Amino acid sequence: MIANDFIPAPYNFEAGSGEVTWQAPSNIAIVKYWGKKEGQIPANPSLSFTLDKSLTETRMSWEPKKAGGVSFDFFFEGKEKASFRPKLEQFFDRIRPYQPFIESFHLTINSSNTFPHSSGIASSASGMSALALCLTHLERQISEMTEEHFNRKASFLARLGSGSACRSIEGPLMSWGEHRDIKGSSDLFGLRYTEPLHDIFKDYQDTILLIDKGSKKMSSTAGHQLMHGHPFAAERFSQAHRHIAELKPLLATGDLEAFIFLMEREALTLHAMMMTSDPYFILMQPATLEVINKVWEYRRETGTPLGFTLDAGANVHLLYPADNKDEILKFIEAELVAYCENRQYICDRIGFGAKKL
Ligand code: PMV
Repeated sequence: MIANDFIPAPYNFEAGSGEVTWQAPSNIAIVKYWGKKEGQIPANPSLSFTLDKSLTETRMSWEPKKAGGVSFDFFFEGKEKASFRPKLEQFFDRIRPYQPFIESFHLTINSSNTFPHSSGIASSASGMSALALCLTHLERQISEMTEEHFNRKASFLARLGSGSACRSIEGPLMSWGEHRDIKGSSDLFGLRYTEPLHDIFKDYQDTILLIDKGSKKMSSTAGHQLMHGHPFAAERFSQAHRHIAELKPLLATGDLEAFIFLMEREALTLHAMMMTSDPYFILMQPATLEVINKVWEYRRETGTPLGFTLDAGANVHLLYPADNKDEILKFIEAELVAYCENRQYICDRIGFGAKKL
């Protein structure tokens, strides 16, 4: 598919009013997206686990207005949020060619998250996908579309808001970015991963240690830009292709040892790219490294398949099979909560995608 396939055919419609609510999850990448080209096109393919409990819920209502410009009000947790407007205005500007009808409506958007506000957990993935789903729902009121096209269109729009958001539509795993070994994979939208998946991953756990709830020192937008002209960029992008090829059989057989090595190598490579950009920056905190060392020590001593990954921040995602949950939660309580800000962590697990409420 090409971007023009997402421009709807001309339609005639009587603009009415209505309302819809969608709930969309966050996701955690195992193979990371870091670096992009013009038009929110990823520099390399990525693969993520969809989460289950870290959600954004967005209610969007619409009423007819005279065409000419996009008009919207945005409320976050019940309060009007002026600081979110520039990002939303940019989003609406980007999606207008693909949803020209939005100019015929005034939109009221109410959004809230299930995870603690400013926990350092990025809400852009769940937030942008929930909004994209509401907008695609509105489009479906005007022109028919198949379920498959609905998901692709929502993912395509979400990508224009925040790249990784395009992987928050379905689950339990999503791929985004063209990859030789993933049939139908596209740079334009996220695709549900339909290759063989071992049962061990179907209820995989993700406990998110909230190491640093402060605002990020470097936005991911700025971080992606620094991959242009990065001395290691070309090798990193081909490594991501290799990692996806290597991950496929591990996901099929449930080889956790190799899965954990690949996942941790990806996390540390992401941060190595940050530490070797110009300008360089570090998002990990001393507590992030303490936790990583404790996890390695615990794994060495007990043989328990506990691994970590990181996103663009200091928080640590601990991934492990559901069967090991009790012992791992005991270990987290005894050894790791001391490194969490206000001893906070979130117990999440793999999820199955967004839902209309
Ligand atoms: O979607 P963005 O622009 O916030 O970038 C997200 C990048 C990482 O979270 C670091 C990796 C990923 O693939 O999600």
